[in-house]
Amino acid sequence: MNIVDEIQKLKKEKNAVILAHNYQLPEIQDIADYNGDSLGLSVEASKTKADIIIFCGVYFMAETAKILSPQKTVLIPDKEAGCPMADMITGEELRALKKKHPNAKVICYVNSSAEVKAESDVCCTSANSIKVVEKFFKEDDEIIFVPDKYLALYTASQIKRKFIFWHGYCPSHAKILSEYILEKKKLYPNAEVLVHPECRPEITELADKVLSTGGMSKYVANAKARDFIIGTEEGMIYRLAKDNPGKNFYLASELAHCINMKRITLDKVLACLRTNRHEIFIGQDIIEKAGLSIRRMVEC
Ligand code: 13P
Ligand code: SF4
Repeated sequence: MNIVDEIQKLKKEKNAVILAHNYQLPEIQDIADYNGDSLGLSVEASKTKADIIIFCGVYFMAETAKILSPQKTVLIPDKEAGCPMADMITGEELRALKKKHPNAKVICYVNSSAEVKAESDVCCTSANSIKVVEKFFKEDDEIIFVPDKYLALYTASQIKRKFIFWHGYCPSHAKILSEYILEKKKLYPNAEVLVHPECRPEITELADKVLSTGGMSKYVANAKARDFIIGTEEGMIYRLAKDNPGKNFYLASELAHCINMKRITLDKVLACLRTNRHEIFIGQDIIEKAGLSIRRMVEC
């Protein structure tokens, strides 16, 4: 039996579901029951009927699934698949920042640890940061936005709000520079430029649309344009090309590569299914507090 058949067979026997982020390797995207962005994956994790969730993505995503479905077994095929941006702020650092601004409320990007989520009032993703800020906070609220300074800057620019920033950023998206976009625009003058809000401000300013990965999928499916320059991690190109035959996708920069996302392989998924290895465990107190900030976002 080949590895894909073996994974499918075991998955059925164990009543497991495979959730995969849009940046996963093509072969992982192909075996997943659901592919999507952080928001879509959170919603899927909260409503699945499966007993086991195999989370093909990075650690904070698997933690979010566990927080939303604490009664389920959540497994990550490689426990070293972290997110450098999420690691740029600790619970302790956030507590110190809150002490400096005792009246401020806190919004955290989902790319953060469970402990940071537990210290926050509400969570957001790149798909809904604007909506969450508008719905959750009053006009004159003092707001701390962690950890992504670029998502915070982009969100602030769209709704004319001020935030207390943290200095986090995504090293993969930060590698996308304006000159690469301008070069690609010369090569493909009819292409629309779609970029992720984790990009630098000079990149979001150059773009036709600033979208989460799930937002890019929806936008492209309905767009009249046939050519697109994509400013995000390279895995997104596979997703878009597979779902939109006949449309052309050009990566803004080959440097936008997330090595952590690529740690998940078919062998590791199979090993995980066979042995239930790399289970996510989170303390009850953190589950309750972090769950509140994630559910506030999902219900927003
Ligand atoms: P999305 O939620 O847009 O898929 O982004 C997740 C992420 O980690 C981007 O780097
Ligand atoms: Fe984290 Fe960036 Fe990788 Fe997304 S692409 S998981 S933000 S390091």
